Amino acid sequence: MLIPYALARPILFSLDAERAHNVTLAALRAGLGGGGGPAAAPVDVAGVRFANPVGLAAGFDKDGEAIDGLLRLGFGFVEIGGVTPKPQPGNPRPRVFRLTEDRAVINRYGLNSKGAAHVARNLERRRASGTVGVNLGANKDSEDRIGDYAECLKVLGHAVDFATVNVSSPNTPGLRALQGRAALTDIFDRLHAVQSGGPTVPLFLKVAPDLDDADIEDIAAVAPDIGVAALVISNTTIARPDSLRSRNAREAGGLSGAPLMRASTDLLRRFHERLEGRVPLIGVGGILSGDDARAKIDAGATAVQIYSGLVYRGPGLVRECVDALRTR
Ligand code: FNR
Repeated sequence: MLIPYALARPILFSLDAERAHNVTLAALRAGLGGGGGPAAAPVDVAGVRFANPVGLAAGFDKDGEAIDGLLRLGFGFVEIGGVTPKPQPGNPRPRVFRLTEDRAVINRYGLNSKGAAHVARNLERRRASGTVGVNLGANKDSEDRIGDYAECLKVLGHAVDFATVNVSSPNTPGLRALQGRAALTDIFDRLHAVQSGGPTVPLFLKVAPDLDDADIEDIAAVAPDIGVAALVISNTTIARPDSLRSRNAREAGGLSGAPLMRASTDLLRRFHERLEGRVPLIGVGGILSGDDARAKIDAGATAVQIYSGLVYRGPGLVRECVDALRTR
């Protein structure tokens, strides 16, 4: 059954943002999302086939509770997580805020996760076919963050089509320091070691939009050599553009949605110029229309992902983006 988003949105917007999100996930789990229609225009990223180039970004289904419902919305691929090895509650509520006038979201969830074992059980239960990846996270209190990524990959790697290393969440103190050359080399060495001798999935790397020139240079220089199969550009930003008008604009956390579009697309373009196709790119950040999705592809992405746009535009945005990327 398809509930028109024009009817659902005022109800969801009357709830606080986290509750609205949980209601949405429950509806998807119950099969209330409707069908997204035939998948079109498959693309290949690092040897993984996406039924179409429009994916769900990490953080929407952190524990893999609604994979079937999400695939049925018409996504060409779904990234679940971030997942941490041990369960952890994340930050105290409220921790996610709509910036309605800005068509944006600020979140400081702090990687709330039911833990890798729980997510593994959800992956076993899924029935819809389609491409699913997992976003790997680290526990906040971990003394070996790289070991945490490895542990998640060990528990979940066999059940997914790709895994993304998240070193770019602004909500886990110190995490983004792992975007340096030495740390990335370490991370990817450890993850490849986990996969040696067994089945492997391609490993993607997700970066922050707040990188300076030296960071970009470092990441672009090492990515092809350390086996980064694709770059996901980008996570949420800690910047607060002057244009923001909503009263929630000063909340702490990562900003996503429309105000992130330009910065994340510029970063995508820079990586594209620097890498010249040696590492495929997935563009994410601020897609609220088919034209936005097109702009990411024009800047060098092979595929795109969306999250905040779903809050404002509903699931019809998925179809709009797929159509926009098909017609040209
Ligand atoms: C996120 N995002 C995110 N990314 C990630 O790598 N791991 C995660 O656990 C989360 N969690 C998360 C929660 C919430 C509430 C939001 C809004 C976002 C970032 C997300 O995947 C995406 O990179 C950004 O939101 C930018 O895309 P949009 O939202 O502008 O389309």
